[in-house]
Amino acid sequence: MTVEFSDKAKEKFDHLLTRYPNKRAALLPVLHLAQAEFGGWVSPEAIKYIAELLDLTELDVHDTMSFYTMYYNQPMGKFVVEVCHTLSCELMGASTVVDHLENKLGIKMGETSDDGLFSLRKGECLGSCGTAPMMRVNFDYYENLNADKLDKIIDLLREKA
Ligand code: FES
Repeated sequence: MTVEFSDKAKEKFDHLLTRYPNKRAALLPVLHLAQAEFGGWVSPEAIKYIAELLDLTELDVHDTMSFYTMYYNQPMGKFVVEVCHTLSCELMGASTVVDHLENKLGIKMGETSDDGLFSLRKGECLGSCGTAPMMRVNFDYYENLNADKLDKIIDLLREKA
């Protein structure tokens, strides 16, 4: 399958390049752009396309992508729920948060719901340790989590979908 940016995404891409000293330096924002443009994940074809655009190897793109948790190499749900399980969050009940979400969403950690709405992942410290336990849903943080709060958040996201 051939992938290519839309005209609008190409404009954004061109603008991004003006903000960096060289093409390679624009890799992270270009990955975000590609992920948004190509259905929420970066396929092997998209990696090849980005590599060509930025004069990089596919391995360069893949290596960078694999270092960051916000780039996905497989299709994900509309809402990617990433529960922090590093020390502060773990001590404050991250496992309970995961159990509750697995029950509420009907999926296990690492899975995506059949309706394509939710993907559940474990994450490393998201820098919000003082408000543990916490999770990130796409670009938003949800903190001081408990069962009631989780129910409200998930219900709200379902309404928004
Ligand atoms: S340990 Fe969870 S945000 Fe830092």
